[in-house]
Amino acid sequence: MKDDTHVVTIDRHIIDQERLQPEATGAFSSILTDIALAGKIISHKVNMAGLMDVLGRTGDTNVQGERVEKLDVFAQEVIYRAMDHTGHLCCMVSEEHPEPIPIPEKFPAGPYVLVFDPLDGSSNIDVNVSIGTIFAIYRKVSNEERGTEADCLQAGRKQLGAGYVVYGSSTMLVYTTGSGVHGFTLDPSIGEFILSHPNIRIPDPPARYYSVNEAYYSRWSPGQKRFVDRLRGTNGASGPGFSSRYIGSLVSDFHRTLLKGGIFMYPSDERNPSGKLRLLYEASPLAWIAEEAGGRASDGRRDILDLVPEELHQRTPFYIGSTELVSLAEEYLSEDG
Ligand code: AHG
Ligand code: MN
Ligand code: MN
Repeated sequence: MKDDTHVVTIDRHIIDQERLQPEATGAFSSILTDIALAGKIISHKVNMAGLMDVLGRTGDTNVQGERVEKLDVFAQEVIYRAMDHTGHLCCMVSEEHPEPIPIPEKFPAGPYVLVFDPLDGSSNIDVNVSIGTIFAIYRKVSNEERGTEADCLQAGRKQLGAGYVVYGSSTMLVYTTGSGVHGFTLDPSIGEFILSHPNIRIPDPPARYYSVNEAYYSRWSPGQKRFVDRLRGTNGASGPGFSSRYIGSLVSDFHRTLLKGGIFMYPSDERNPSGKLRLLYEASPLAWIAEEAGGRASDGRRDILDLVPEELHQRTPFYIGSTELVSLAEEYLSEDG
């Protein structure tokens, strides 16, 4: 039985990571600690959702034209209130807000930008399927005291920190600051995230899982179809078939891919030439985590982390997971010209 005095809480781990960065000021660590607090609050609400009037929809639609769930709004507000007064941020970007969210004038601004998807997988809330929160932190690039859109539209390679919280059978927070990927499991009895998955690496060889919404097969490019046929071992394609796993929550589908290997895809198709997932606060944060864990993430042709967003809610085709499978996808897609 492990000696309970040796638990590593996320706060302790963040401080240890900060000591790896000689120029660290502690502000960045404080942002991560505040995100962990927000994750605990959202986790509690998600776990009680069936008992409170937080299920269902608000009746609104967001900038994406998608129906807003009550928990989307709750998660958005929790993160905003955890971060707005700290003096570390110059602005925030949320999936639920069309424009950058300013820091109120009554609070000081700081040198960092937080981008986030407050609740990912919203369509699964009411049926008790895992959902999540995705975030990334950048340093501002403008000389403006209060952040500008230019401070938000940075390539994923500029991220200083990235992570997600997955509200599943247990609540886990997974993050990187460039020194590996580390996973923490929430112990609700003490309200602490405890280090449970240090230095996560995508297994090699990977589990033979592929993850994609096959309902859209008929709308895919020829190369995309041939790639999935190859994975299935159908139409004479060589090799034993893979297993298909698709939860419909990006954070959950990615978390399985990170821990077991395989590939998650959200391709472009005839109706959505840029795919569905958003570059800034869904693809880029997970892409950095995948790379730090020995994997890859691509838009089908280029590394996700090299893509510079031209608008806040820009979508991108998305392939992420084991390096060999993401690279194989690119080979098939290159046949599309
Ligand atoms: P969000 O709930 O933040 O809008 O994200 C939902 C996304 C993502 O979680 C998931 O991978 C994808 O939507 C599922 O889309 P389909 O239902 O088209 O498969
Ligand atoms: Mn999402
Ligand atoms: Mn969302």
